[in-house]
Amino acid sequence: MTDFNTIAVLGLGTMGAGIAQVVARSGRSVVALEADEQRLDDGLAAVAAFLDGSVERGKLAPDERDAVLGRITGTTDVADLSSAEAVVESVSEQLEIKVALLERVAAVVGLDVPLLTNTSALSVTDLAARLPHPERVAGLHFFNPAPLMRTVEVVRALQTGETLVERLVALVGTFADKDPVVVDDRPGFLVNALLLPYLNDVIGELDAGLATAEDLDVALELGLGYRTGPMRMLDVIGLDVHLHATEAIHAATGDARYAAPPLLRRMVAAGRLGDKSGHGFRVTPDNHHEGQ
Ligand SMILES: NC(=O)c1ccc[n+]([C@@H]2O[C@H](COP(=O)([O-])OP(=O)(O)OC[C@H]3O[C@@H](n4cnc5c(N)ncnc54)[C@H](O)[C@@H]3O)[C@@H](O)[C@H]2O)c1
Repeated sequence: MTDFNTIAVLGLGTMGAGIAQVVARSGRSVVALEADEQRLDDGLAAVAAFLDGSVERGKLAPDERDAVLGRITGTTDVADLSSAEAVVESVSEQLEIKVALLERVAAVVGLDVPLLTNTSALSVTDLAARLPHPERVAGLHFFNPAPLMRTVEVVRALQTGETLVERLVALVGTFADKDPVVVDDRPGFLVNALLLPYLNDVIGELDAGLATAEDLDVALELGLGYRTGPMRMLDVIGLDVHLHATEAIHAATGDARYAAPPLLRRMVAAGRLGDKSGHGFRVTPDNHHEGQ
């Protein structure tokens, strides 16, 4: 192992559970922190379920699954993170929650241990400004589902040390099937800065009656070779997640391309959040079972 033999992952929710297994599959030890025992059990069970699925699909050997799980230790006590050589936080998307937790973690790890955030829409520079030794703060932004999506954005805040950026690029390079992209700390970083206006535009066209949701996907998948059409992608991302992200970038930039389309707001108000609620642009109560 070259660098970062033990990594703390804060939060084992949707993203943290995925990040923990990506890190553990690279041969590193993971100490995963959750807010309480129930959520810790749920998070560890989600990791195990994902790895079981990989075994069933023939992508992972059973003994490798056991080895990966054996490298992940769960805790609810910040003091147990003292051996971490890097920290990746993936807790709720609220600056105050992230700052409060990272301050506690910073007090138990070494002064030069990198504090990395998986935030999608908060400013890494704002976060760094609130933490001791801000030169060791950077973004390490995975996409959902973290074990499957190749791109990982290494986000350079104004304060981030250049050596840290290089070490993070090397770190991502040791993760299976992951490609690092270095990007400055701007709203939306790189991927979401490009993706969100495109998704908002398609929602607007749907609302204007250009085509059905299905035909919009067919046009972009079969016509342009996109792997997942925009409507299907929104259902997978979660319409509430997309609304939150686009509102945050709109608030930060004032750029009208990020303004939430009225149809998106109506869908979220109606509880039509995509796959997670069984009703979105493409998934409907009729085809929900089939779509899972
Ligand atoms: N969901 C996505 O598609 C996605 C994609 C990329 C990045 N992100 C970012 O990843 C982060 C996590 O998002 P998520 O979707 O996994 O959220 P989530 O709600 O699924 O998981 C967050 C987890 O953090 C835990 N948590 C909260 N406070 C904690 C504390 N003080 N100590 C320990 N654990 C605590 C919660 O119990 C929860 O399990 C956010 O910053 C989000 O913006 C999300």
